[in-house]
Amino acid sequence: MTQIFAHRGYSALFAENTMNAFIAAEKANADGLELDVQLTKDGEVVVIHDEKVDRTTTGSGFVKNFTFNEIRQFNANKKGVKKEPIPSLVEVLEWMQSNQLVCNIELKNNLLPYEGIEEKVIRLVRKNNLMDRIIISSFNHYSIVLCYRTAPEIETAPLFNERIYMPWIYAKSIRAKGIHPKLASVSDDIIKGAMENGIAVRPYTVNKEADINRLLKINCTALITDDPVKALKMKKQM
Ligand code: G3P
Ligand code: CA
Repeated sequence: MTQIFAHRGYSALFAENTMNAFIAAEKANADGLELDVQLTKDGEVVVIHDEKVDRTTTGSGFVKNFTFNEIRQFNANKKGVKKEPIPSLVEVLEWMQSNQLVCNIELKNNLLPYEGIEEKVIRLVRKNNLMDRIIISSFNHYSIVLCYRTAPEIETAPLFNERIYMPWIYAKSIRAKGIHPKLASVSDDIIKGAMENGIAVRPYTVNKEADINRLLKINCTALITDDPVKALKMKKQM
């Protein structure tokens, strides 16, 4: 059965990459979460999508230029009523001790280098003993290789936004157990081919009913969606 991963949490209804969005996804019975991480000036791993805080918070400037204490002052729920800080990865991993969710941590290090982010994330995952519930992904495939070399016990999955010929061969060559392609870049045959070759496929970002149906029908490993409630309801009706 296709697993449903909540993209940036239950981001269709809650502010993306906030604890509220993650808690709502868990309450809705999503199988997993997807979230994005970057590093603050003082090396804390924080959960935020853009390199700048401007779009999603009340602050302005690059994540990398704020200390953790400074960045925590911004409101990541700027359209909502209740103020919410940008979560730290520690906060999310500690909360995961109280549930069974799988978490896909996307390292947002394809535009900015964030030296050492792989080691920091792996140390936190190990400290919280969550190695078998974490999938590390990134558009930076060097980083994916580094993660595997540092922590072969943690699953990795390269992200793609373009078509790739026989991606399972590539995935195996970098010791990844899965691939996370942009939905438009994979055909049913590619998805089936990867799965038949032992590679998990979790396309993003799957929000349209027709697309959700398509992936459910071919029993794709998982799909990453902003609206886990809609996808779970459709899965139930299959
Ligand atoms: O991990 C899948 C997806 O989140 C990658 O794209 O831009 O939403 O982080 P983006
Ligand atoms: Ca992401």
